[in-house]
Amino acid sequence: MILEAKEIFKTYKGVNKELTVLDNINFQVEKGETLAIVGPSGSGKTTLLGLCAGLDNPSSGILNLAGEAISQMTENEKAEIRNRKVGFIFQNFQLLPTLTAVENVMIPLELQGRADGARAKAIELLERVGLGGRHHHYPSQLSGGEQQRVSLARAFSNDPEILFADEPTGNLDEETGLIVENLLFDLNKEKQTTLVIVTHDLELANKTDRIIKLKGGKIISDQSLKSASLL
Ligand SMILES: Nc1ncnc2c1ncn2[C@@H]1O[C@H](COP(=O)(O)OP(=O)(O)O)[C@@H](O)[C@H]1O
Ligand SMILES: [Mg+2]
Repeated sequence: MILEAKEIFKTYKGVNKELTVLDNINFQVEKGETLAIVGPSGSGKTTLLGLCAGLDNPSSGILNLAGEAISQMTENEKAEIRNRKVGFIFQNFQLLPTLTAVENVMIPLELQGRADGARAKAIELLERVGLGGRHHHYPSQLSGGEQQRVSLARAFSNDPEILFADEPTGNLDEETGLIVENLLFDLNKEKQTTLVIVTHDLELANKTDRIIKLKGGKIISDQSLKSASLL
């Protein structure tokens, strides 16, 4: 097991009452599994993904990530776990605008203190995602699909044990989305990462092993898609 959520609640203070955004979430993810979290806008998908990745804290409950109880950790401790074990892909790419493609991909390696060989590894990953000719482009000089491919390269650069992606194709047209999606699954297979994707796209969700449906902050279904034909 690489991820475990136990009795997770997340609440925010509203105008005159508390807003419950995640309402007793329980699930476990096995190493190597690919999983989609789907549900209507506002159902708590992004909030849940952020908690699982250690970007935010639950109001109550326990999160275990790659053997570490991240819900009990300080910000610094969580940052250290994220650097070593986690990759994250955002809907809006979140590349640093003042750094080139290759420098963006190098960031996680430099944070890990692996500056030696970081550039070579970043270049190799950019080539893997088909951006061999774009090393020195700044994000503003790249298309949306190219930026998301840089962010895939960045997410895999620290050899994460688990990768989280929040609507990774949400800002891309269908054709470009498919390219990014295929790269994501191919890289995930090659590197044997665990993958948790939040998506609106049911076709994308259907390519994973398992779909968790959220509604109003609750899990309303948790379904394995691994077909019996594999047996
Ligand atoms: N920082 C915040 N403060 C207050 N409410 C928030 C905050 N972040 C998210 N929410 C609320 O939590 C709910 C779930 O948001 P989110 O996780 O972004 O949903 P989804 O990704 O499924 O669209 C929404 O109703 C949103 O308004
Ligand atoms: Mg969201």
